[in-house]
Parts: sequence; C-alpha cells; structure tokens
Amino acid sequence: MEAHLLEWLNLSVRWVHMITGVAWIGASFYFVWLENNLNRVNPKTGLAGDLWAIHGGGIYHLEKYKLAPPTMPDNLHWFKWEAYFTWMSGVALLCLVFYLNPTLYLLAPGSSLSGTEGVLLGIGSLFAGWFIYSFLCDSALGKRPALLGFILFVLLIGAAYGFSKVFSGRGAYLHVGAIIGTIMVGNVFRIIMPAQRALVAAIAENRTPDPALPAKGLLRSRHNNYFTLPVLFIMISNHFPSTYGSQYNWLILAGIAVLAVLVRHYFNTRHDSHRFAWTLPVAAVGMISLAYVTGPAPINTPNVAKAPAQVEYQPLPETAVGGGAKPAEAAPTQPAQAANAGPTFDKVHSVIQERCAVCHSAKPTSPLFSAAPAGVMFDTPEQIRQNAPRIQAQAITTQIMPLGNITQMTQQERDLIGAWINQGAQTN
Ligand code: HEC
Repeated sequence: MEAHLLEWLNLSVRWVHMITGVAWIGASFYFVWLENNLNRVNPKTGLAGDLWAIHGGGIYHLEKYKLAPPTMPDNLHWFKWEAYFTWMSGVALLCLVFYLNPTLYLLAPGSSLSGTEGVLLGIGSLFAGWFIYSFLCDSALGKRPALLGFILFVLLIGAAYGFSKVFSGRGAYLHVGAIIGTIMVGNVFRIIMPAQRALVAAIAENRTPDPALPAKGLLRSRHNNYFTLPVLFIMISNHFPSTYGSQYNWLILAGIAVLAVLVRHYFNTRHDSHRFAWTLPVAAVGMISLAYVTGPAPINTPNVAKAPAQVEYQPLPETAVGGGAKPAEAAPTQPAQAANAGPTFDKVHSVIQERCAVCHSAKPTSPLFSAAPAGVMFDTPEQIRQNAPRIQAQAITTQIMPLGNITQMTQQERDLIGAWINQGAQTN
C-alpha cells in the first residue's frame, strides 16, 4: 500500500514539476524570442520597439518601452511563480525519488558514502553550486562572459565527474541538473526579481533607476537561457541508459551539453545573422558520434561459453531485498554448479528469478514495489525472451539494474546473460 501511495505522490509531484517547468521555460523562450525579434526601426517615442504577431486566431501588437510607460499600468504581469514552483516541486521529487531510499536510487553500488552522507552531499551541492556560481558572476569574471561561461562549464562537468564516483548514474545526472536548476531559480529569486522591483519602485517614485541592476539581471537571464537545453536533456536522461549508465557518463553529459549550448546560441543569434547556422549540422553529427561511441561493447562470449566453471552463483541472502544488507555481508560464494554446456536458458532463468524477479514480477516480493517497476515482468520465459534487448541495455551493457545492485548480481551472471542474448536469446 505504501509503495502504491508513493507512486501516486511521485506521479502528482512530477506532473506539477513538468507543468510548471513547461510554463517557466516556455515564457523564457518566448521573451527571448520577443526581445530578439522586436522591430527597432523608427520606434514611437519612448519605445524600444514593437512587434506584430498572430496566434490562436488573433493578431497581437506588443510594444516594449525603453524604460517605462509614462504611467504605470494597474495590472503589470510578473513571471516568477513558474520558476519557484518548478524548483520546489523538483526538490520534492529529489526527496521522493532519491532521498527516501538512497541506497537503492542515489548511491552507486558499493559507494563509499552512507545513505545519509549521500543525501547531505546532494542537498549541500545545490546550495554550494549557487554560492560558487553567484560569487564568480560578481567577481571580475562577470565582465568576461565567455571565460565565465567556460569556467562554469568546467566546474559543472567536474561536479558530474565527482558525483559519478559515489552516486548512481541517474543520481549523478539528476544532481547536475538540480544544481543548474537551483542556479536558474536563484537568478530569478535573488537577482532578476529584485532588479525588476527596483526598476518599478524607481519609476513609481520618479527616480532614475540604477542601470547596474538590470544589466546584472540581463547577464543572469542570459545564463538561464543557455542552461535550459542541457537541463532539459538531464531531466529526460533517465530514459536513456546508454548515457547515464556509461562509465564515462560525465563525459557524455559534457558532450551533449556543448551541443545543446551551440544550438541555443544559433537560435539566440539567428534573428540578425545566420553566422552560427553551422552549429546545427555540427550538433547532428555530434549526436551521431555520441550514439556511436556509446554503442554496446561486444560481449566476451568465449569466456562464458568455454569456461562455465567460472560462473559463480551466489544465492540471494534473505535480507538483501529489504534494503538492509550490505553487499559485504553476502552469503559465502558457493562452488559453481555449472555443467559444461554454454549459457542454457535454465541458468539464465534462475539468475533472473533470483536477481530481478523480486521486483520485476506481477506480484513483487520486494516490499519496495507494489507493481512491476516500469511494467517490466520476468515471470515467464516468454517475458524474459521478449525483454532480452532491454535486459541487455539495463544489466549487461550498463549495470543500472538491479537498482543499487541490491540483489548482488555478479559480473559472471551478467556475462552469462550477455552471452545468452548474443546467441539469440533462445528459451529452449
Ligand atoms: C530493487 C528492485 C529491482 C530489481 C532487483 C531490478 N529492477 Fe529493474 N527496475 C526497477 C525499477 C524501479 C525500474 C524503473 C526504473 C525507472 O524509474 O525508470 C526498473 C526498470 C527496469 C527496466 C526497464 C527500463 C526501461 O526504461 O526500459 C528493465 C529492462 C529492467 N529494470 C531490468 C532489470 C533486470 C534485468 C534486473 C535483474 C538483473 C532488474 N531489472 C532488477 C527495479 C528493480
């Protein structure tokens, strides 16, 4: 029951996160587009420019003031709650998905951190990220945007690398995303909103507004704009095990982030020049290259087929699935009982029953799940056969499954299943 309630809580919070995130990023894209496409030729007095647009069956005429209208309107729309709710729901999701059960989702199997340490590192990194970022922007680097951007990039990839040593692939990726998201919402909360409030107050009191604040707000909102595409990738990355599940997941993230920023740059500049049109084919070739280098490595079949005696089979300790046991407390290794044959389905079947089916079953015996995770079930040979490519992606090419290696699957067992899949995944 508890697992079921958690699933619906997760669903609700994730849905809110997505809706508010769409609203936030949508508004951000729209205003950047608006700014870039203003008609600035012969504007009316007091205007920076105007723009005509048609949408949803109506024609709109928008005007941007150089500073402010002669009198402030009664109803001025602000954009901030999208950002705040995206961040708050995001932190709630971090707690629900990663922090509630850190050994399963957050930590790498065999991580040097305890669950509590992992959670503290995760939360601490969000705040540390914001303070370091903000400090750098306010330092002399703030006047050298390209260098600042480069240093921020190196620091974020450094964080990804560090996380990848102690967190699961998903945990590492999501925390880089959460750091960037926190920086983005920090920019709204601490810089952009105060600058806008100061502007409005100055106009109301007939003072000349301090130009330094809007300039700072502009730099930060530009950063936010470049951050969006990498963050969006990270938020969907959980579906792509060949990215976060790779040993070089931090490098793959760096590659994708560079491509995303290049593409964003083209879209930010194309209104007045197509000088950066080359970024589009480069991004396409970049994605193809990444697909190539992350491809599954050939599996060392002979090793398993010719030397089955190496296949060690460790029965699952009773306590392991409850989340209590540490891998080090595993039952002593039993001598291999493997016969001389190659990877027959029988052996594959029992490995999967032992290591996977506690969760992946119509009736999971693991208390953590009330239904088969991701709808993937290994109750029948046919289900195992049909899911062979997904098993390969999750447990062989990458070692994402079993989650947190909570059922203590061995490398030999992975090789065994890999060999079976390589030889056509026959069930007889
Ligand atoms: C502790 C429970 C648990 C164990 C044990 C476990 N899994 Fe999973 N598995 C999950 C969860 C949870 C998900 C859903 C992950 C997500 O949030 O996307 C999942 C998802 C999957 C998916 C679907 C991924 C996708 O998006 O296509 C596959 C395939 C999979 N597991 C295979 C395995 C294999 C193979 C094993 C055994 C070697 C295994 N799992 C062991 C919990 C488990």
